[in-house]
Amino acid sequence: MQIALFTLLLPVASAFVTPAAIWGNSCVRANRDIYCLGGVQQGPTISNKIYHLDISTSWETSSPPWTDISIDGTDNVGLYSAFAGAATLSDHNSILVNGGAISTNLQDIANTTAVFDTRTNTWSRPGMSGTSMLPSRYHHSLVSDDQGRTWIWGGQSVNEYFNTWAVIDTTAWTVSYPNIVGAPAPRVQHTATLVPEGKIIITGGLTYTRNVTDPTGGNILNPVSMADILLFDPSTAKWTNLTAGGNIPAPRRDHSAVLSHDSSSLVVFGGGDPMSDNSNMNDVFVLNLSSLLWSSPSISNMPPPPRKSHQETDERKFNLAAILVKNQMLVMFGYDSDGNAFNDLHILDTSSWTWDTHYRINDDPKSTEPASSSNDSNKSNVLGGQSALISTALWGSIVAATFLVLIRSIFRMDPRSSEQVLPAALVISQKPDIEQEDIVHKPNEHEADGYA
Ligand SMILES: *[C@@H]1O[C@H](CO)[C@@H](O)[C@H](O)[C@H]1NC(C)=O
Ligand SMILES: *[C@@H]1O[C@H](CO)[C@@H](O)[C@H](O)[C@H]1NC(C)=O
Ligand SMILES: *[C@@H]1O[C@H](CO)[C@@H](O)[C@H](O)[C@H]1NC(C)=O
Ligand SMILES: *[C@@H]1O[C@H](CO)[C@@H](O)[C@H](O)[C@H]1NC(C)=O
Ligand SMILES: *[C@@H]1O[C@H](CO)[C@@H](O)[C@H](O)[C@H]1NC(C)=O
Ligand SMILES: *[C@@H]1O[C@H](CO)[C@@H](O)[C@H](O)[C@H]1NC(C)=O
Repeated sequence: MQIALFTLLLPVASAFVTPAAIWGNSCVRANRDIYCLGGVQQGPTISNKIYHLDISTSWETSSPPWTDISIDGTDNVGLYSAFAGAATLSDHNSILVNGGAISTNLQDIANTTAVFDTRTNTWSRPGMSGTSMLPSRYHHSLVSDDQGRTWIWGGQSVNEYFNTWAVIDTTAWTVSYPNIVGAPAPRVQHTATLVPEGKIIITGGLTYTRNVTDPTGGNILNPVSMADILLFDPSTAKWTNLTAGGNIPAPRRDHSAVLSHDSSSLVVFGGGDPMSDNSNMNDVFVLNLSSLLWSSPSISNMPPPPRKSHQETDERKFNLAAILVKNQMLVMFGYDSDGNAFNDLHILDTSSWTWDTHYRINDDPKSTEPASSSNDSNKSNVLGGQSALISTALWGSIVAATFLVLIRSIFRMDPRSSEQVLPAALVISQKPDIEQEDIVHKPNEHEADGYA
């Protein structure tokens, strides 16, 4: 009895684990750590798992040093959710989790906001004014800016789809709902990425429209061409339709999109075919943010298996997470066509375009280059000209949205090819602070790093 009690009191945090195979979890970076929260485990059951990965040491993809820091508790909201939205706040220590499904049949959707403090590994739920309009939703996107705001967009509830913004000001813990003209159609399973000048780029997914000729009010979910890029500028509260060219990726949902290390491009990996239950992708595309041209780099070594969608009754499940650390894009978790979830981790080196098995903390050739001038941020570029709002885009690591789609929805291609092309070929601003992002710093030096 005494031995048993002693065992319970032993610290367990240092023991490395093989994570459970999970999909629909939220993976974000905070400081020199990656956290993957919640999701769905085989069963299926909604998971309360929190996995932690140290990115301040080097390791092999065959044995990433995951630790399990899951917390049991009676207050489960925020602890158990799947397909939620998550983003690290501008303090780099707190992870905000909003919404998500709290039952696997997707009939119970949360509108709660919980904060995981990575310094204490504890959850809290901030009391916030203005939450009464906060919709319950999943398949939405969260982006934190450098002013303490988290921008929530898109997603769906049981039978509702959203195209409105909710903005959580985490400095005052208030929620506001900017009323923005020219809003695009409601969208799910897209990506949202913070890009230079604090703008937000949205790609892919499915748009929702109501079938006006259907007396029962049926839904139509339309795949979105990857040529149709949405840009939102929080500083002007304006949407812009961009049209990309080049080697345009196939339409996809629940792909991942990360801003490149030099902030010049968006790197997209994988995703599921919006038109098919069983077709998934493990391809890589790069969107040059200056020219708005897509290209497909030729990549050495074997890519990870496609994170395939899976049909189970009338649901499809797919998830993958991707986070960029310097030039290394970490791809993890997901679901395959045989009904098995992944617990693996893969690394794409975006400087050599190689699928790599080593995570290296110090192999970044760019780290020896002189830091780019912060004055560059005043240069005009294709994303919409001059702005004083300097991005902290390094924290905008994008975790792929997660999805579940109603199979009975009718898909229809909508190329919408007539959209406006913005003037191109101007220089996009460099992200001035990225070179300060040096993961060999001790975490406790971080708050003095001066990211803002
Ligand atoms: C959730 O939504 C309900 C209305 O459906 C609202 O009364 C409540 O305040 C919201 N709660 C949160 C935490 O947003
Ligand atoms: C973008 O295009 C859509 C149609 O595809 C339109 O409804 C919307 O108003 C456009 N938005 C802007 C800001 O031009
Ligand atoms: C809309 O609903 C009508 C009536 O049910 C149906 O015939 C039609 O195929 C639907 N259109 C689409 C695009 O789903
Ligand atoms: C950036 O601009 C400031 C003045 O605004 C100037 O003092 C500084 O030298 C410039 N830096 C570079 C690298 O050009
Ligand atoms: C950049 O733009 C901001 C705001 O317009 C201005 O305050 C700043 O002086 C500019 N910096 C340079 C180097 O031009
Ligand atoms: C992106 O486009 C710009 C403008 O066309 C070009 O100068 C730059 O070389 C391109 N970047 C890459 C990596 O191809």
